[in-house]
Amino acid sequence: MSDDRFFTRREIAAALTFVVLGTGIGVASYRAGLGIAGAHAGAVVAAATTPAPPNGGTLYAGNCAGCHGAQAQGGVGPGLAETKGWTLAAFGQAVLHGEAPEGRTLASVMPRFADTGLDGAPPTDEQIKVLHEYIKGL
Ligand code: HEC
Repeated sequence: MSDDRFFTRREIAAALTFVVLGTGIGVASYRAGLGIAGAHAGAVVAAATTPAPPNGGTLYAGNCAGCHGAQAQGGVGPGLAETKGWTLAAFGQAVLHGEAPEGRTLASVMPRFADTGLDGAPPTDEQIKVLHEYIKGL
């Protein structure tokens, strides 16, 4: 007497399929959620630990403008128009060690930034590069 049965085989199969599918979807979306949360956490950590790239304008304003003028027009130090034509290597040599092209030693008023540091820390190649780019753009 099949009428006495609570569920037919077909109903049981349908219920099982429902449970299996439901569990699968649940696990998949949980994993996707973890993936998104993971990627997000990674981005936050990267933003917190990667130092900002050096800014030529900020470096110039903080370390050079007082003597060379806001527009590199000159003041205590000479205008830096000529410097714009220098190679990055020559510029770095002058700024870091006070050695201008053709063996010219700069007056000691011009800091030796390799010794004094830029913003209180040893200058990096990247800082010298963005400084040169900034001065060329003035
Ligand atoms: C305390 C003042 C002072 C500060 C600060 C200073 N300079 Fe100078 N700078 C001088 C003086 C003075 C000279 C000229 C030295 C000479 O001709 O013998 C000079 C010369 C130079 C020269 C050579 C210019 C040329 O045509 O011969 C460059 C390049 C230069 N400075 C770049 C910089 C940069 C870049 C900074 C900032 C990172 C800076 N200076 C900060 C005073 C300063």
